[in-house]
Amino acid sequence: MDKIKDEIERYLMELCVFGHTPQDGVTRLPFTKEARAAAEYLAGKMQELGLAVHVDASGAVIGRLEGAGPDTIIIGSHYDTVENGGKYDGIAGVVCGLSLIRMIKEEYGNSFPYSIEVMATNDEEGARFSGGFFSSKAMLGLWTMEELRKNKDANGISIYDAMKAFGMEPEKLPEAKRDLSEIRAFLEIHIEQGPVLEKSNKEIGIVRAIVGMRRKIVKIYGRADHAGTTPMDMRDDAMEKAARIIAGVGDAARNYLNSVATVGCIKAVPNAINTIASYVEFSLDIRSADQDNLNALERDIQSLITQSASHYEIQETVHIDPVEMDQKLAELLAKTAEDCGYSWMKLDSGAGHDSLITGPAMATAMVFVPSKGGRSHCPQEYTDTEYLKKAVKLVYQAVKQLS
Ligand code: GLV
Ligand code: MN
Ligand code: MN
Repeated sequence: MDKIKDEIERYLMELCVFGHTPQDGVTRLPFTKEARAAAEYLAGKMQELGLAVHVDASGAVIGRLEGAGPDTIIIGSHYDTVENGGKYDGIAGVVCGLSLIRMIKEEYGNSFPYSIEVMATNDEEGARFSGGFFSSKAMLGLWTMEELRKNKDANGISIYDAMKAFGMEPEKLPEAKRDLSEIRAFLEIHIEQGPVLEKSNKEIGIVRAIVGMRRKIVKIYGRADHAGTTPMDMRDDAMEKAARIIAGVGDAARNYLNSVATVGCIKAVPNAINTIASYVEFSLDIRSADQDNLNALERDIQSLITQSASHYEIQETVHIDPVEMDQKLAELLAKTAEDCGYSWMKLDSGAGHDSLITGPAMATAMVFVPSKGGRSHCPQEYTDTEYLKKAVKLVYQAVKQLS
């Protein structure tokens, strides 16, 4: 019997049913019944652990163990998933937080020098509204009502309306803002979602920096005409223009070290076999841990769009610069990993995380664990709970040493 491993495994398997189908993996988008079920499950487990539970105005589920001192340590990650995602991204960090807070409570009751919170954040992925980082931005008071109204899902439903339909009050979102002077650290345990730890034979990754990212919706306008009767030199084909841009995006990124760019979704109007497309819309996701490379790649893609299309619009939904994790916390985690006898390495995160948002505002650090085959954002995503257990023990030992 291994208590930590068993509880992590049980939590994960009980949670993954919310949005799970065997062939398609887990889809748990924000403000849906699957999200509600996961949030209710988490709130229930927090209550069982004897924590003070509340759901903040962004939909984050927070369980708090009151400590002896005035400051708080938050152990956070997200409970939403991408479409057809896995059983570990985000939620693994949340359940690790549950294990850890149980251990602190068992050892200290309410006499730990810090209050500890497990924070299960809502809509980190941006899979429905393309913005993402909903709770972590709310925690910093970074949302405007205008953004909530403007940011829409594929069905034209805004965050604002989705919240209302879900029974939440968007006007109250500012209430999720935290007093940062009380937060001693934000710590996030997360699966790596890439192949580096496994390839390097390491059990633990200590994150140095998280990539900066730009996310955009690119809208290309053309003219609908008959596909058979309109000569090739008399068309305004939005699909052809979009295709030229999309084909160039990957090549543009390959010009820069440690930089990536992805077009992950596309929509065409009228989307018919025998009509020239009058409109094509696609997403753009550009990332780099290097600020100069990120800016240069963004400029290159911008000129690609300007050269290929005359009538276009670009809506930026995410604009975040790369963020370095708190060096002292990272050093403490590295030293603790060494003391625990775990194999570890430093690495950068190519994935976005709530820690990317909290990083500039409070002392933030991330611990990664290996992803089997580097797979993530797919049903095949898998992480051995042995690694998650080690991450819990590591962070447990590290927070005990926080001064
Ligand atoms: C979230 O996982 C992202 O990096 O897009
Ligand atoms: Mn994640
Ligand atoms: Mn993700």
